[in-house]
Amino acid sequence: HAVVHATGSSLDRDLGIPGEELAGSHGSGAFVSWYCGHPDATLLEPLLDSPGVVVVGAGNVALDIARVLARGPAEMATTDVPEHVLATLRRSAVRDVHVVVRRGPQHVRFTPAELRQIGELDDVDVLVHDDGVLAAGVEEPEDRRQKQNLEMLTAWAGNEPGTASRRIHLHFLRSPVRLEGADGRVEHVVLERNEVRDGKVLGTGEQETVDAGLVVRAIGYSGEPIPGLPFDDENGIVPNDGGRVVRDGVPVPGSYVTGWIKRGPTGVIGTNKHDAVETVGKLLEDLADLPEARYPDRDAIFERFAEYGVEPVTWDDWLNLDAEEIRLGEVRGGAERVKVAGLDAMLDACRSAAVR
Ligand SMILES: Cc1cc2nc3c(=O)[nH]c(=O)nc-3n(C[C@H](O)[C@H](O)[C@H](O)COP(=O)(O)OP(=O)(O)OC[C@H]3O[C@@H](n4cnc5c(N)ncnc54)[C@H](O)[C@@H]3O)c2cc1C
Ligand SMILES: NC(=O)c1ccc[n+]([C@@H]2O[C@H](COP(=O)([O-])OP(=O)(O)OC[C@H]3O[C@@H](n4cnc5c(N)ncnc54)[C@H](OP(=O)(O)O)[C@@H]3O)[C@@H](O)[C@H]2O)c1
Repeated sequence: HAVVHATGSSLDRDLGIPGEELAGSHGSGAFVSWYCGHPDATLLEPLLDSPGVVVVGAGNVALDIARVLARGPAEMATTDVPEHVLATLRRSAVRDVHVVVRRGPQHVRFTPAELRQIGELDDVDVLVHDDGVLAAGVEEPEDRRQKQNLEMLTAWAGNEPGTASRRIHLHFLRSPVRLEGADGRVEHVVLERNEVRDGKVLGTGEQETVDAGLVVRAIGYSGEPIPGLPFDDENGIVPNDGGRVVRDGVPVPGSYVTGWIKRGPTGVIGTNKHDAVETVGKLLEDLADLPEARYPDRDAIFERFAEYGVEPVTWDDWLNLDAEEIRLGEVRGGAERVKVAGLDAMLDACRSAAVR
């Protein structure tokens, strides 16, 4: 009867500053795909050969990335990161992870549970660089989560550098204005100090430099246009009314969206469930006017795949991959599973005879 598009937001947003194209500078999507073993990401091999790294952003993705870079290899070995990622993390020279936040400590978008976790990492010191803003007292935010974040950050502001092997530095009121380096590789990030006036972030012209061999911008995502559907370039979404795709305000019959492609790249999995309920509600309201569905039988679908030379991955195939990942976790020891990385290796595991 209809098509519901749930394609998410797969493009990394750019900072739009000079030097962003240097080797060692990545968007969070590409970087997260690397450590998650996403099948499309095997070409990225981040350079973790310098003690300093910069992560830009004050959302949970910035925290996720800071945590992966700061955790020791023994801790990372208990996760499902693929073997080649663990090997890179074992060789990592990273010691100082600088999280750069453009506004003040009262404005961060972290969720308190995620922020708390970076304070609980083994052998990692968390250091706050706030130019004394917290000690001077900031206006208490109304938002409950921002209030909890502020309490944690205020407590950490008194932390002195200790003896931990690695440090996460939280720098407030700073924006990167330039990435610099020799031979096409990033070596430094030039930061400008900011002021926030009437909610606007304003550069003061005062600059400082941080050494970094890797820079990851975790400043949000954008959706990709879907052929045949309208697209809102500014917000990176498909224009819609509660999930009904609209072109110039008029519904496009039979087309619906849900998730990040519907509302933009914010919110957790639970948020998408509410979103999906709304979209399906609209679809059901429209059902009587939608074209009648014709359901080809399963064999006909597979014959069609064969005609086009497409070899689909079935549920049983996926179970084989699942079993292989669990087996690799046992081989590594202490990990529930280990991701099989690379499309070819995933398909080989799918087509192995473990389950069928
Ligand atoms: C790094 C990171 C960590 C996160 N961690 C958490 C967390 O711990 N807990 C939590 O609740 N939320 C977390 N979130 C948020 C959560 O991932 C999102 O809310 C959720 O994934 C959005 O769901 P979606 O279905 O809109 O998009 P997605 O989950 O991105 O799914 C979209 C899918 O569509 C596919 N696709 C795209 N284009 C096409 C196409 N043309 N044809 C076919 N398929 C296509 C993509 O490959 C993808 O599989 C995290 C987000 C990020 C970025
Ligand atoms: N464990 C989890 O539950 C989990 C994990 C990961 C992600 N998520 C969710 O997934 C969603 C996406 O996360 P996210 O971290 O990508 O997005 P986010 O929460 O929207 O954070 C993006 C951050 O980027 C900053 N930013 C944007 N443009 C910038 C620029 N030009 N310069 C400097 N900073 C800039 C924003 O700053 P301003 O605040 O100043 O605008 C903001 O702090 C969120 O809803 C998040 O909660 C959840």
